[in-house]
Amino acid sequence: MSAPATLVTGIGELTTNDAELGTVGGAAMVLEGERIAWLGPVAGAPQVDERVDVDGRAVLPGWVDSHTHLVFAGDRSAEFAARMAGAPYTAGGIATTVDATRRAGDDELAATVRRLVAEAAAQGTTCLETKTGYGLTVADELRAARVARSIVDEVTFLGAHVVPPGWDADEYVALVCGEMLDAVAPHVRWIDVFCERGAFDEDQSRAVLLAGRRRGLTPRVHGNQLAPGPGVRLAVELGAASVDHCSYLSAADVDALAGSDTVATLLPACDLSTRGPLPDARALLDAGATVALATNCNPGSSYTTSMAFCVATAVLQLGMSVDEAVRAATAGGARALRRDDVGVLRVGARADVHVLDAPSAAHLAYRPGVPLTHAVWRAGVRVR
Ligand code: NIG
Repeated sequence: MSAPATLVTGIGELTTNDAELGTVGGAAMVLEGERIAWLGPVAGAPQVDERVDVDGRAVLPGWVDSHTHLVFAGDRSAEFAARMAGAPYTAGGIATTVDATRRAGDDELAATVRRLVAEAAAQGTTCLETKTGYGLTVADELRAARVARSIVDEVTFLGAHVVPPGWDADEYVALVCGEMLDAVAPHVRWIDVFCERGAFDEDQSRAVLLAGRRRGLTPRVHGNQLAPGPGVRLAVELGAASVDHCSYLSAADVDALAGSDTVATLLPACDLSTRGPLPDARALLDAGATVALATNCNPGSSYTTSMAFCVATAVLQLGMSVDEAVRAATAGGARALRRDDVGVLRVGARADVHVLDAPSAAHLAYRPGVPLTHAVWRAGVRVR
């Protein structure tokens, strides 16, 4: 081995998400450069420069947070407090953040993204997606994409987040599909639309996603968050990588997801913060759909970077087992981003490693609300 390498020993329980390796006891792992160079029983471990003994702690892949909205300015805690006092959540609150974001400078936006990415990393998140969607002009969506791209792993164009005040919906869709997409597409991998009453209807959503596909972007969809609707069906029809929220699913939606490559991304922190219904994770899993868990970190509906909170909630309130929830927050997120280098611990994978201050991953739900991150490596670099 040439690059400096670290041997991690003393692993109490190793969750790999690798079909052959499974969950391993008595294992050790070598991180070399950005990758995992070796993984196996400690007795066979190679000699390397540095050795870290994690003293019986559980080790798992870093969290893959596949749904966030980090490029924003402003604070909506008053809106949150009003909601907790009985006001409903509506898509209209997005406009408040749009105003504040347009007024903010690039440096302020970048500082917010960096702060939240660092906050997430300190809790074990090592791969993160974020979206535009609080600019809603060509110039503001472009700068959001540029800021995001300079900091996070995966960037999504969400010009179709909401129709900006004063615009006709169809004229705005034409702008998103034309000049805005032309400007933003070179900086992003994904195209998204908020397909919901109060945002974009089925035809408008289809037009946005098809325009993105023609530019080489892969669709993802915000769907079925506030009411039953066409989001899931449309996502499956267009081969979207994921449909996110899924709080209102029909039996046909569950069947469609189970028979597709579209991941159902559940955002339980958002459902709690909006006092919305929790999704039927059991129906999805029992039908064979791939499920991901993500934070949906944004200032309106879900202001948390804590994947551990989402995992605990998924176990305690969505009826998922610990294994299902941990998998959904790691390999599930990776699937939603169509990546096979993260969300898994195997030789050749990115060295994204999360060490818990606990002997097993079950403690994530067994000790809810307790910060359990002991150490984190991202692409082989120790970040905590
Ligand atoms: O995923 N649903 C649409 N977008 C965000 C909400 C953003 C906001 O309220 O500012 C979401 O929950």
